[in-house]
Amino acid sequence: MTNNIYFIANWKMFGSTSLLNSLNKLINLSKLKKYKNSKIIYFPPFTLIKDFIKKFNKSKISVGAQNCHHVQDYGSFTGSISPKMLKDLGCKYVILGHSENRNDGESDLDVNKKIISALNKNLKIVFCIGETLKEKRKKLTHSVFKKQINRGLKGVKNYRNVLVAYEPVWSIGTGVIPKSKELEINVSKIRKLLSKRTKYKLPILYGGSVSSKNINSLKNISGINGFLVGSASQNSKKFIDIIKKTIN
Ligand code: 13P
Repeated sequence: MTNNIYFIANWKMFGSTSLLNSLNKLINLSKLKKYKNSKIIYFPPFTLIKDFIKKFNKSKISVGAQNCHHVQDYGSFTGSISPKMLKDLGCKYVILGHSENRNDGESDLDVNKKIISALNKNLKIVFCIGETLKEKRKKLTHSVFKKQINRGLKGVKNYRNVLVAYEPVWSIGTGVIPKSKELEINVSKIRKLLSKRTKYKLPILYGGSVSSKNINSLKNISGINGFLVGSASQNSKKFIDIIKKTIN
């Protein structure tokens, strides 16, 4: 079982170099002994990855990309970035299967191909799963988990570089989070499905409207190893607050 607690900042299509200075306090915090088990990882847009890597150079904060192409190295794919390119840049992680990309037409098979390629290039993956509101209302949540996990992780042999993020689609950007009991049941279902594929206890993160206001209740949900934070992570004060409240 991992003792690490993950704090992931997904900046989506936001951010600019002018925001880099706002990260100084976070860099200082990450060096404190108290936070030695906190794994802070930033996922800026592609255009800022190099600046972030430079900024976090002497800290323990890692950097990842928000997506990649399924072809590992090079190819004629206009506008795309390969796992090799991310690795060469100094990225350690990549988010795959985010619902915003699934919503744009990315299938479980597409996600699976990306996962296999990224793992082949030694990137750690944050594999996102989660049900839509329609699926939740039809009580399909657990079958959605099963489908997304079984299809997305098909052919994966080494799970050491796999993190799973449970992001209910209806919770992303809405300010609404699942009820504690519901979240606990869903996380335990995900854990069960994963344990059929690997003996290794994968970190399971929660994402969807995580904020400094609701973190005190979210941090008490059993089975969760960290948080995937969208909009609140773009404000470093709020992000620091989330980390501090979780660790205290
Ligand atoms: P919000 O925290 O803005 O709801 O976004 C969650 C998310 O999609 C993180 O990947």
